[in-house]
Amino acid sequence: MLSKAMVDNLNEQIQLESYSSNLYLQMSAWAEVKGLEGCAAFLRTQAQDELAHMQRLFKYVYETGALPIVGAIKAPPTKYESVSELFQQVFEHEKFITGKINALMSLALKEQDHSTANFLQWYVSEQHEEEHTMQKILDRIKNIGETGSGVYFIDRAIGMMAGEK
Ligand code: FEO
Repeated sequence: MLSKAMVDNLNEQIQLESYSSNLYLQMSAWAEVKGLEGCAAFLRTQAQDELAHMQRLFKYVYETGALPIVGAIKAPPTKYESVSELFQQVFEHEKFITGKINALMSLALKEQDHSTANFLQWYVSEQHEEEHTMQKILDRIKNIGETGSGVYFIDRAIGMMAGEK
């Protein structure tokens, strides 16, 4: 059985993963209307992944006999200045999520809740992977550059990463 603090914090994470999914889906719409089909495809894949992260938490909470709560999800931003600004924001958001996962893990360890600590380990690995992917994308954008046909090549490179997933 989970502590009330743990259920509350896991429910907050359910909301955050739902927000992440909406954030990336909304970002994909920005990319789509800018003609950046590769970026849009990549971001749609990210949105699906975040939905899976939310559902995994949702299932864990009800399996322990507690009530998972979806809650209200705030609206994500709709406008970006450039591809680099958009992916910088993804990177910042992922770092924020990593902090939240680490705080959840610290709580589980403090409470000697080994089941939740074991469950959260998957998220720790996933965050490492996601931060690494975003860093790779930002490096690629910087190396190619956004002037002239650069954006076209950036879009192609990011689109290929969507296929890799
Ligand atoms: Fe579910 Fe991208 O963190």
